[in-house]
Amino acid sequence: MFSIFPPRASTAAGQVDALYTFEMAINILMTALIFLCVFFFAIKYRRRSPDERPRPIHGSIPLEIAWSVIPFGIMLVMFVWGTRLYYDLYTPPRDALDIYVTGKQWMWKVQYPGGQREINELHVPAGRAVKVTLASEDVIHSFFVPAFRVKHDVVPGQYETVWFQATQPGRYHLFCAEYCGTNHSQMGGWVTVMDPVDYEAWLSGAPRGGSLIEQGEKLFQQYGCVSCHVLDASGRCPTLRNVYGHPVVLEDGRTVTADEAYIRESILNPNAKIVKGYRRDIMPVFQGQISEDGLLQLIAYVKSLSGATPAPQAQPKGNQK
Ligand code: CUA
Repeated sequence: MFSIFPPRASTAAGQVDALYTFEMAINILMTALIFLCVFFFAIKYRRRSPDERPRPIHGSIPLEIAWSVIPFGIMLVMFVWGTRLYYDLYTPPRDALDIYVTGKQWMWKVQYPGGQREINELHVPAGRAVKVTLASEDVIHSFFVPAFRVKHDVVPGQYETVWFQATQPGRYHLFCAEYCGTNHSQMGGWVTVMDPVDYEAWLSGAPRGGSLIEQGEKLFQQYGCVSCHVLDASGRCPTLRNVYGHPVVLEDGRTVTADEAYIRESILNPNAKIVKGYRRDIMPVFQGQISEDGLLQLIAYVKSLSGATPAPQAQPKGNQK
């Protein structure tokens, strides 16, 4: 059967389509109105005899107010509606499942928190918000899942995120929507939405080499990070315990929040932001040394040192004081 829209398989799909349909309807109405007026006036005010002179017209205030205020109101509806939807679509829920996707000429590489990996295949559970962190190893790609109404550029050198909540089990196309070289048209794959129970089974059956955090910890040792960033404050470099998600005071007095982008930058170009009380040029520059996959693993490890997982020496519950 012919259908204008791809299947609606995410919670956002209906909302995006509603806004799109509304804007389309306004477009068609306005276009029709203008064309009808052109034809109508062309006939009504046509020149009837060679020596006819039209009567001068000096304008109409009520008419001018009407054609200014009504379109303005319609534009405001579009603006408020569009902005609200935009904020919803760009604010992932806090409990979203993390998945990491790296674009590379010409494939999508997928990593799950449990360490499972895939290429050009993305498995997600139905009914659960999923936050996808996007990175690129080379050029700009664009992560596009029409059935979820999700499209986002993947830009080298930074992280982008998208989120969606799939509603129906099934298989949906994944595309690259940004021309990225010779095989751009073949850079795509499938998103498989599974029933949550099947998803757990699938996750436990997928091959893996340690969770993302374990792989990150391995890299942390391998690159020698562990010799300076010891996990208390006595090292030559700042401790990484409880850094993620917390404010960091820099030597120039600024305060930044240690998010993924900050950690990534601090690995690749440590001198960009020096923590107050520490010296520059202590840590080597890792630009070009670590793959995007490796960075995501390291970041997962640094994240694991904060908040969510309690520190090993944490006080037992109900202690004195
Ligand atoms: Cu990647 Cu087009």
